[in-house]
Amino acid sequence: MAPPAPRQTNPPPLLTMSGITKSFPGVRALDGVDLDVQAGEVHCLLGQNGAGKSTLIKVLAGAHQPDGGEIVWQGAPVALKSPVAAMRLGIATIYQELDLVEGLSVAENIFLGHEPATAGFVRSRAARATAAELLARLGHPEIDPRRLVGELSAAAQQIVSMARALSHDVRLIVMDEPSAALDPDEVDNLFRIVGDLTTGGVAVVYISHRLEEIRRIGDRVTVLKDGRAAARGLPARTTPTRDVVALMTGRDVEYAFPRRTTEAPTPEQPVLRLQGLARDGEFEPVDLDLAPGEIVGLAGLVGSGRSEILETVYGARRPTAGRVLVDGRPLRPGSVSAAVRAGLGLAPEERKAQALLMLESVTRNVSVSSLARFSRAGWLDRGAEREAARRSVRDLSLHPDDPERPVRTLSGGNQQKAVLARWLLRGCRVLLLDEPTRGVDVGARAELYAVIRRLADEGMAVLLVSSELPEVLGLADRVLVLREGRVVHTAPAGELDEHRVLDLVMEGSPSC
Ligand SMILES: Nc1ncnc2c1ncn2[C@@H]1O[C@H](COP(=O)(O)OP(=O)(O)OP(=O)(O)O)[C@@H](O)[C@H]1O
Ligand SMILES: [Mg+2]
Repeated sequence: MAPPAPRQTNPPPLLTMSGITKSFPGVRALDGVDLDVQAGEVHCLLGQNGAGKSTLIKVLAGAHQPDGGEIVWQGAPVALKSPVAAMRLGIATIYQELDLVEGLSVAENIFLGHEPATAGFVRSRAARATAAELLARLGHPEIDPRRLVGELSAAAQQIVSMARALSHDVRLIVMDEPSAALDPDEVDNLFRIVGDLTTGGVAVVYISHRLEEIRRIGDRVTVLKDGRAAARGLPARTTPTRDVVALMTGRDVEYAFPRRTTEAPTPEQPVLRLQGLARDGEFEPVDLDLAPGEIVGLAGLVGSGRSEILETVYGARRPTAGRVLVDGRPLRPGSVSAAVRAGLGLAPEERKAQALLMLESVTRNVSVSSLARFSRAGWLDRGAEREAARRSVRDLSLHPDDPERPVRTLSGGNQQKAVLARWLLRGCRVLLLDEPTRGVDVGARAELYAVIRRLADEGMAVLLVSSELPEVLGLADRVLVLREGRVVHTAPAGELDEHRVLDLVMEGSPSC
């Protein structure tokens, strides 16, 4: 007979947060949250946009001071008065919006905030060697410690942020939606890093809206809803998706993609036409006809030229060959205003830098591209502006439901919804969407899909870029697969599945 299994005794938690509260003017972001994290585990935080995830981890990082509650670290109560205080205990954070200094080098960023690190040390060869070692350990030996951070890709910047975390003696690393800007192979690298860390006894708090990631690397899950823990310490791998989603949203969410209710349009009368459109070094000639009511998806890895195509169509980049026609008339190349006048709208990938007026209200952000519509004899009809914005914000269930709030104070996912609301309000004829659901929670995602479907049914043409293959395959009528700047395959979405697209994206294939 097998010897009796040793009795499972749970070691005392590395971290216990209890009853944490935090209010901002007009919002109770945290309403008594409890969280406990064990050494060596991956503890996932799930919750809808605005549930309080980022606020909670900012409290843990010493970036926000809580209004109430207690934090116990390795058995002793602590006050995390500043980010330096948190770091000194061994708590490091990779934020949703990376907080690197673009004008400093990689090595300088990595050692920023280290107490012994004087400017002399950071510039020294020893510091660069340590930085290089950390980057290599993270699977990216090609990142040069002397490069300016501003010149790096989003994925590389994130690695630098991680190297900074590891340059301290960490016991706990918090990652706020680290995978949102990563390719599948970069996500694999990230998960390898997470595995190495936890094997070494480091705890990871992991925030993501992608449930499949939580299944892959998570040990336990805490679900936040409206600033409270709706469930704590659920098993990450075995808790049914239905239950998790119901805890997050308080309802059952229908996963299916909305079906088109109209006949799929044929591009005989295209509203948008790309003829040999190309940009040297970015993408090779693309031909595409897009009919009113049609949704075409561009699938491919980050860097395959997807976003560059959208931006060139939109006039933000000037093509080196070919042209864009709207209703058969060529657009002036490299002119955003010409594109907008012709009825094009772009919801870009980098919201903060390209799209949002962070200090302005949601209303103004939403209506900024449609101001002409709200002008009466030179005066802005604020009532009409507000009303239209309110409607468009409702469509996407933006939270909190207060269009007068500055966008800066919205959660990451809700900022994304504000960008989309802008283009929905504008009523453009061709909508160019770049990663529309990045950082958007599962509940809001379903609503967003329904809105995109409805707009297409009403005759809007949509060109969609997304790293989420189910999204491309579920929404689009037709899919163009890109690899290294070249369209390697075009097919109706119904003839493709995820495996086929991944094969094409990774290796390419002679079929075209
Ligand atoms: N600096 C701030 N000022 C005012 N309100 C804020 C501020 N930061 C966050 N909030 C509000 O607190 C609430 C929680 O936001 P938080 O960023 O923690 O959400 P989240 O769970 O991280 O969401 P997401 O998944 O969209 O990133 C939201 O209602 C948000 O608008
Ligand atoms: Mg957040």
